[in-house]
Amino acid sequence: MRLDRFLIRRGTHSTKEITYLLADGQVKVDDRIETNGLQSIHRFSKIQLGEELLQEYEAVYLMLHKPAGYLSATTDPQHPTVIDLIDHPLRHELHLAGRLDRASTGMILLTNDGKWSKRITEPAEKISKTYHVTTRDPISHETVGIFANGIYFAYEDLTTQPALLDILAPHEALLTIQEGRYHQVKRMFHAVGNQVLSLHRKSIGPFVLDDSLPVGKFRHLNKAEVNFFRA
Ligand code: URA
Repeated sequence: MRLDRFLIRRGTHSTKEITYLLADGQVKVDDRIETNGLQSIHRFSKIQLGEELLQEYEAVYLMLHKPAGYLSATTDPQHPTVIDLIDHPLRHELHLAGRLDRASTGMILLTNDGKWSKRITEPAEKISKTYHVTTRDPISHETVGIFANGIYFAYEDLTTQPALLDILAPHEALLTIQEGRYHQVKRMFHAVGNQVLSLHRKSIGPFVLDDSLPVGKFRHLNKAEVNFFRA
């Protein structure tokens, strides 16, 4: 949105007054005087008019170590949700940058910045996610090639992007996928006649779940981490 339109829309000053206030250096955006009303601002811009703070909205970026049993939702009448684990004043404004099933554990990213989370969840962005998986049956070596070629999902009428399967033990593997379709990992193993017994997300893009982050706890992402998905 344009700065002048934001100021005019408040209804406290006429267009002429806003033009004057801008030219007079009375408007600040993110603590810097802004005289150009055409300047674009967004919901996280800090905006001041003289001494008055008109808008200050904190952008929040969190990494949570999700325990089993919590829903990847913001509210639910029946089950606890991941938001219940977030002790932050803006917790009810947060949404998830990618879900995990209720029984699944591991990394969840939460934010109130929709543009940022879209970069992570949009399949076209091909942000990799790595899961530690345990299965009911031994994982055959042919599965590596099958997952690398992609699995056809009839419901969406698409073939999954090449996935990397690293077999660690007969019933245990790391699987890296580049998208995040509904129940994707479970459906991929189901497609080869196996069944996922446990699923733990270890990483999203360059973020690896910190060993120091206990189950059920969260931490703020640092600037470099946040900026990675802005680039
Ligand atoms: N794929 C699944 O099937 N479940 C998850 O929780 C995440 C990815």
